[in-house]
Parts: sequence; structure tokens; C-alpha cells
Amino acid sequence: MAILLHLSEVDEALWAANLAAKLDGYPVVLRGDDFTPEDIRYIFVWKPAPDAFAGLDNLKAILSLGAGVDALLRHPHLPADIPIIRFVDTELSQCMSDYVVAHVTMHHRLYTRYRADQQARRWHQHFPPVACNINVGVMGLGILGTDALTRLMPLGFNLLGWSRSQKHIDGVECYTGTADFDAFLSKTDILVDLLPLTSQTEGILNYTNFTKLRRGALDGGPVIINAARGGHQIEADIVRALGDGTLGAASLDVFEVEPLPETSPLWRIENCYITPHIAAISNPETGVNYFSKILLDHEAGRPLINVVDVQRGY
Ligand code: NDP
Ligand code: OXD
Repeated sequence: MAILLHLSEVDEALWAANLAAKLDGYPVVLRGDDFTPEDIRYIFVWKPAPDAFAGLDNLKAILSLGAGVDALLRHPHLPADIPIIRFVDTELSQCMSDYVVAHVTMHHRLYTRYRADQQARRWHQHFPPVACNINVGVMGLGILGTDALTRLMPLGFNLLGWSRSQKHIDGVECYTGTADFDAFLSKTDILVDLLPLTSQTEGILNYTNFTKLRRGALDGGPVIINAARGGHQIEADIVRALGDGTLGAASLDVFEVEPLPETSPLWRIENCYITPHIAAISNPETGVNYFSKILLDHEAGRPLINVVDVQRGY
């Protein structure tokens, strides 16, 4: 029995050392180590290679370093019927909420306008609206969406949320499913995307939907903030909407293609704020606590938690 790490583009050795220290003698192996594939009970993955699961015939669970599992679910050789555990962590949620609060408040206070005024040395007093006149709509009322709303609440914004199944969150006007989507958009000034990427949410940030957002409350037009997945956004539509005033500004942490190609027009758009998929990163300290507890609990016969519903896609 052993756990195999297959983590690309992160410090795999650090995760392995931290895990080994926590796992109380449970063997931790890396891809380059000499091990017998049949001995692997758990695989801990991030961007696994096509052959990552080859020969792992005795897997009990797949542990995903990412909170989002869309890419993992598209893996060409993902073993069927093996539970997938995604990352859920208060520090990850706090990081995401930090990003959301920073960008919501920046747009509320008309950052684009005042940055342009400063560059032009222009003294023009145009007062941003009070927060309670601004409607922030969060798409996705899961772990991250709920945390972001909780942290936005004391700032005084009107809060709206949209999810697949019905939710009741104190202080948030909740909308449900496709039937409510247009009503939700029509009340939203700042749209925050914290949805998983599924066949239903792919391309949801498109021009038609941008035209449905509320206009008039925010100088310059409504704003979108995407910290979820690049597959949600049609970048050509964002370029068009930022150019013709359908959108006042956009904050994008994720992209159709990552890294965002140098040739992308998004880089050069003044009211488009780009970050390189850094809104929230899985932390090796808290992450190791989380995954080692799941493994040890499961070995002790306790049920797995935060299991992905593969049919639903998240
Ligand atoms: P959860 O699974 O906890 O929540 C997902 C939410 O989206 C749920 O409320 C769900 O509804 C809702 N949802 C799913 N499909 C639909 C749909 N078709 N229509 C309406 N609502 C829908 O996910 P998390 O909050 O943990 O994470 C969200 C996403 O954030 C991840 O999938 C990942 O892609 C992204 N992420 C990005 C990071 C970054 O650094 N940029 C870091 C971490 C995560 P219901 O409640 O009814 O099921
Ligand atoms: C994640 C991410 O899904 O970092 O955790 O994007």
C-alpha cells in the first residue's frame, strides 16, 4: 500500500515531504521512484499525464490538488468508479474571497476612470455610487461563492447569487437554474463567476449574456469578474463588449488558453485587468493536513468527504 504523487507544475517534492511527515509511516512515492503499481491505493494528482493511471489496479481514491476537476474529468484514461476527492480548504476560500473583494471594490470605486484621469492629470470629481446601490451577483453558490458573499456582506453591497439547485443564504437574493438566469443578470452590476466548468457552464460569459446585465448604476457599464475557469468565457465577446461599452470593465484570472498568449488582444485593453490564474492556490501546509486526514480516516474505515459527482461534472 502507498500513495503516489503525480503533481505537474507545482513543487511536487515539497508536497511529498510534507505528506510523508504527516502520514505516520504510510508510504509516499513519486513517479520516478521504484514502486509496484499494484501497491498504489491513492494517487494525488494535478494535471496528470495520459499514462498517470496505468497499472494502478488497486486504487481506492483519486485526490485532486485542484478544487476544480474539469480537466481531470476529461482525462482520457480516468479510471471508472474510483472516487475523486477535490480540494476544499478554508485558506483557499479566503484567498479567492480576497481576490473577489479586491476586484469588486476596485470596480465599485471606478478604478479605471480614476486611473485614466490621473494619467491625464485631470481633476474631475465624479463620485462613485454608495455600495448599497450596487448589486453584486455571484454565479456559483458552492464553497467559494458562499465564502465570497459572506466577506462581501459587511461592505454593504446588495448581494445576489445564482446556482443550479435552490439555496437560502441570509442577506443574499438567491436565483436558481436556467429559468432564473436572465432575472439574475438583469439585476446584476458586478458579475462574479465562481462556477465549475461543465458542459452547462461552458461559454456562459458571452456577449448575449453581457447585454442582459443591469446598466446605469455603475459609470461605464456593468463589470465581469472571472476567477473560475477560462472555458466559461468567450474572449472575442469580452473584447467586443469592452470595446463597445456593453461592459465597463473585466477582471480575468483565467483564460481560454493558459498562459494567455502574447498575441491576445486582452493584454492591451485598458479596462481589462489580467492576473495569471493566481486568485487562489492550494497551499502545501493546509493541503497536506486536508489530504492526509482524508487518507488516514479512509484507511480507518471512515467515509470519504468532498467526493466529486462525476455525472454532474463537479
Ligand atoms: P462547488 O462545487 O463548491 O460549487 C459550485 C457551485 O456552482 C454550486 O453552487 C453549484 O450549484 C453551481 N453550479 C454548478 N453548475 C451550475 C449550473 N449549470 N448553473 C448554475 N449553478 C451551477 O465549487 P467551488 O466553489 O469549490 O469552486 C468553484 C470553481 O472555482 C471550481 O470548480 C474551479 O473551477 C474554480 N477555482 C478557481 C481557482 C483559481 O485560482 N482561479 C481556484 C480554485 C477554484 P449547486 O449548489 O446547486 O450544486
Ligand atoms: C483549482 C485551481 O481548481 O487552482 O484549484 O484552479
